[in-house]
Amino acid sequence: MSFVQLKNVNKHYGKTHVLKGINLEFSQTGHYALVGASGSGKSTLLYLLGGLDRASSGEIEIEGKKIDQLDDDELSFYRNSYIGFVFQFHFLLPSMNCLNNIMLPARIGGGKEIEKVKKNAIKMAEFLGVSHCLTKMPYELSGGEQQRINIVRAISLRPKILLCDEPTGNLDSQNSQKVTQLLKDLASEFGSTLIVVTHDEKVATHFNNKITIEDGQIIS
Ligand SMILES: Nc1ncnc2c1ncn2[C@@H]1O[C@H](COP(=O)(O)OP(=O)(O)O)[C@@H](O)[C@H]1O
Ligand SMILES: [Mg+2]
Repeated sequence: MSFVQLKNVNKHYGKTHVLKGINLEFSQTGHYALVGASGSGKSTLLYLLGGLDRASSGEIEIEGKKIDQLDDDELSFYRNSYIGFVFQFHFLLPSMNCLNNIMLPARIGGGKEIEKVKKNAIKMAEFLGVSHCLTKMPYELSGGEQQRINIVRAISLRPKILLCDEPTGNLDSQNSQKVTQLLKDLASEFGSTLIVVTHDEKVATHFNNKITIEDGQIIS
């Protein structure tokens, strides 16, 4: 049975038809690369899956629940309890240290125990080799370290679905490979669905499931 299902999903921005009748299924523990040219609709699709934006029409079902029918409060609850995001350009807040950045989603309203989340975050930072960064400010870190802190934050609430938008876009190929492997290992450990947007064919080869989008349509 599919964990995430999109049925004839369309997205318009004004007169621009960005996603055109998308039908897709994702299994609960599947790892997916989503590839396509710039402007093909990859980020838009990820935003819809993550409940950051809404489809213009069609259905998006997660664990049998139609998220397109949720009101705004229910949608943000869904986002907090199901989704972890990793973006290319890290969104670490410059004014707080890395541990406080990591703890932000939990404090904002994951509804889970803060101390437990903190313990997990510290363990995860050790696993990713960035525990020495936790008390540092984001600007004191290298790009690779920032991205790993970013990942710790995304997974701090153990999301069922991990959505990554060009997570390796600003990394060299060695770090890029490391981060890709880490995302896969973490998703496997948590039993999460992993969806990684990339335009890097080398990154895509690390995934058994490759979805290609062209001009708002799934072509393979
Ligand atoms: N908020 C927005 N308002 C208007 N057009 C948008 C918006 N976001 C994306 N688009 C348009 O939708 C298309 C797909 O964008 P996007 O999903 O970001 O593509 P990708 O991530 O594959 O590069 C592009 O033509 C882009 O200009
Ligand atoms: Mg994009």
